[in-house]
This record gives sequence, structure tokens and C-alpha cells, in this order.
Amino acid sequence: MFVKQFRYSADNLGYLLYSANEAIAIDAGAVQETIYFAKKNKIQIKYLINTHSHHDHTSGNKEMLQKTDARFIDCTKIKSDEKISLDEEILNIIFTPGHTDDSITFQADDFLITGDTLFNCTIGNCFSGNLKAFFQSLKRLISFSEETRIYSGHDYVKESIQIARGIEKDNFYIHEYIKKYNPQLVVSLLGDELKVNPFLRFNTPGMINILKKQNMPVDTEFERFNSIMEIF
Ligand SMILES: [Fe+2]
Repeated sequence: MFVKQFRYSADNLGYLLYSANEAIAIDAGAVQETIYFAKKNKIQIKYLINTHSHHDHTSGNKEMLQKTDARFIDCTKIKSDEKISLDEEILNIIFTPGHTDDSITFQADDFLITGDTLFNCTIGNCFSGNLKAFFQSLKRLISFSEETRIYSGHDYVKESIQIARGIEKDNFYIHEYIKKYNPQLVVSLLGDELKVNPFLRFNTPGMINILKKQNMPVDTEFERFNSIMEIF
């Protein structure tokens, strides 16, 4: 399965996932570009879906449905893992509540489309208020192979790197990470996220030390995650 990323608005990222002939549009805010790309490559946009129901992700839905024969799949109705097939290939939908109650992640081959759950070098806000669910969702995502490519819902890389650098000044990998950043194609490897993304580093000795110095609870994984969320 192939991933085509489209940038729209200030920093939103939408996607077209496609196999031989069929595609699914995800957060298709870049409507014209997405349709043009599909036509040029002779791909049928079979489905339209969102990573969650926030307006900046659903803004292209109406126009996309007017201009194509795509079938709309409502992410707010998804309450557990599901599967979608494109040609003969399977796209997994992973139910990842936390940022919102209706946040989902798409997985196939070696990639994840993470919406506002996991960003490159940061994570989303926990707008649902259910921090435990958010933590469990993130744990599921980081359990994939370190070679997994992370495609998220926004390009927040520049500002997130500054924050990561502020938190872990001595983290050598942050310098390596910024060298790989390309605003034309915003993607990172999960292995690199685990080295720089402060919100995923709740088990590293360096981060645990930082939390201890601030007298934050560090006994359990969730306590450490919660502490990082509270401080930063
Ligand atoms: Fe969002």
C-alpha cells in the first residue's frame, strides 16, 4: 500500500492511501490536489474517512463527497479495531482514543497514520480528558517495529524540536532528528521518535531523572507519563 501526503491550511497533513486501483482519502482537506493525484494515477477514491472529528481534519469532507463517488466512513461510529480492504490489501484501523474519544490510527505494511494522537516529535492534547486511554493508545502505537514510518495529522516538527531540546538538553539524537526533517514530506521512524519525542520517553533513565529532580511521581509507567504531561 502506498502513502501520499498532502499539506493544507497552515500545518495540516492529509493522506491518500492507495494500492493497485483503489484508494482511501484520510483527512482530505487538500481536496483538489487529492482528486488530481488520484485521476493522474488512475486510482478510484473508494472511501473517505477522518482520523478524528476535529474540524480542521473534516473540512474537506463535503467537497470530496460532492466531487467523487467515495463512500464516507464516519470515524465517530468506530468503537474498536476494524479493517478495510483496498483491492486485495488490508488496511487496519486501530481504535486509539485519547486526543478525542473518536481518534483512530491507520496501519498497513510499515506505516501508521496517527492523526492528532502521535505527532512527529510530540503528541496531541488529551482533549477527551481520558489520560489512561490516551496512554494505552500511545503504548499500542509505540509497540510497532522501530522501522515503522509515522505520518501524523500536523507538521509541528520545528516547535516540537525546540521543546524537546529544552527538556533534554543533552539528547544527542535531537540534532540528528532535525537533519532528517523535510517539510515537503513530514515523516519519521518510530525508532527515532523513541529517541527524541519527550512524551514517549517515560521509561528512559534520563527522563526519569528529570522527573525526580522536579519531585514528580515516577513509580509506574503511567505515573511517569502523567508527570511528563503535567510538567511539559
Ligand atoms: Fe485534533
